Amino acid sequence: MRLDKVIEQNLQTTRKEMKRLFLMKKVLIDGMVELSPQRNVDSRLHEIQVDGQKLRTSHVYYLLNKPAGVVTAKKDEKFQTATQLVAEAERPADLYPVGRLDRDTTGLLLLTDNGQLGYDLLQPGAKVTKTYHVIVNEAVTIEDVAAFKAGIVFHGGVHCQPAQLNILSSKSGHSEVLLTIKEGKFHQVKKMFLACGKKVIKLTRLSMGPLALPEDLVEGTYRQLTLNELQQLKIYFR
Ligand code: URA
Repeated sequence: MRLDKVIEQNLQTTRKEMKRLFLMKKVLIDGMVELSPQRNVDSRLHEIQVDGQKLRTSHVYYLLNKPAGVVTAKKDEKFQTATQLVAEAERPADLYPVGRLDRDTTGLLLLTDNGQLGYDLLQPGAKVTKTYHVIVNEAVTIEDVAAFKAGIVFHGGVHCQPAQLNILSSKSGHSEVLLTIKEGKFHQVKKMFLACGKKVIKLTRLSMGPLALPEDLVEGTYRQLTLNELQQLKIYFR
């Protein structure tokens, strides 16, 4: 949460008082004077001390194993949404999915009500890697691996950054690969394979940055991030 919002919520400060707190260097994060009211903080990760008082935040962070058939839009007329898979009692009004997965894509989706973190994780400059398990309708070759490494160009001319393709199995009619990309273009994985004349049959996201899909997390279920997982996201709090 933005530091000025945390202070306002906890201490009911007026704008004038808020300005004074920062000017008088009364705002400390992890023991250091903080001058930016926009700084994104979470009291599970940062010690937030204002005028001698410790302040708390109450954000939620969930790892969801998204099933097929569910959309990552915040609202949808026709389909169930990812946030609706979270029990109502555990679902703040501003809970939202960080990034988008297609309706037929399964796997790891981070849900949070920390909008600033979600935004920062998706910035191209953050270079958050995503790894997918992909089933493809044809043999995937070492030429494809080289093409992904060089940077795929979509039909239509859009250039992708180099990506790492690892072949798990390959035969005509069915291949399984792991693909790691550092960007998040619309339908990126499907379009990358289409550019090689191949079709994605099944797509599952296994990881996003430091977060990995837990093997025991059944599709359609979610759990809170562990403290350790949250700590690994600390570098993305700006
Ligand atoms: N790339 C796609 O094509 N679809 C997804 O859902 C995610 C990445």
